[in-house]
Amino acid sequence: MSHAIPDRVVILGTGGFALELAQLMGDCGCRVVGFVGPQPDCPLPEPWLGGDDSLSTVNTHIPALVAAGQPHLRQRLLALAAAGRALARFVHPAALVSSAARIDEGCMVYPNSTIHAGVHLESGVLVNSNVSVGHETRIGPCCNIGPGSSLGGRIRLGARVFVGIGASLIEKLDVADDAIIGAGAAVIRSIPAAGTWVGVPARPLEPRP
Ligand SMILES: CC(C)(COP(=O)(O)OP(=O)(O)OC[C@H]1O[C@@H](n2cnc3c(N)ncnc32)[C@H](O)[C@@H]1OP(=O)(O)O)[C@@H](O)C(=O)NCCC(=O)NCCS
Repeated sequence: MSHAIPDRVVILGTGGFALELAQLMGDCGCRVVGFVGPQPDCPLPEPWLGGDDSLSTVNTHIPALVAAGQPHLRQRLLALAAAGRALARFVHPAALVSSAARIDEGCMVYPNSTIHAGVHLESGVLVNSNVSVGHETRIGPCCNIGPGSSLGGRIRLGARVFVGIGASLIEKLDVADDAIIGAGAAVIRSIPAAGTWVGVPARPLEPRP
């Protein structure tokens, strides 16, 4: 199913993620009017408009997207943006999204990802490139699903879960709010609590003594 690309957008974020997102959106015909956030640490293709306070100077008819990967920061910036304007939704045309999937405001789905029937991405979810999300999986608000990861069917991810690059989660799992799943992890049991989980099979990463 194709999703409309917004014709204009303001991006909250000024780092490499913002650069990447602006390039993807520009290539799809969307005009990025500028970036809001800390002083950029990389060359951006459109003007830096200033810190978070400067969002109030941007025409409120222009929707916002958040280019921040860390889920708590995503949540904070999404709330800031939603206070004064609509949140955009960006589904890259090279993503394959079932007509029976639901994608809420503020979500982004990057190229070559597949979102199957009955999936629900709650507000502000980022699905990076080359991700597969199986049938009826529900992904809670502000989760970040890393590049190349695979989620089986009927999984429930809580809010602000971070799934690292290339992680795999088998079907019918529950993952607690604020869990962090390390790059390359294989999750074969539900994750009952926040904290960092790594390895094959995934186990809690014990804090250093
Ligand atoms: C899991 C992760 C968050 C841990 O980060 P951290 O808390 O800073 O942990 P450290 O780097 O200090 O490593 C602590 C220990 O865990 C191990 N470890 C870290 N990440 C691991 C992973 N993904 N798989 C297996 N072991 C891992 C380290 O080898 C180290 O072990 P040691 O104490 O025996 O030397 C991080 O390594 C990770 O995988 N991040 C995902 C990044 C990502 O996918 N980004 C997406 C960008 S688009």
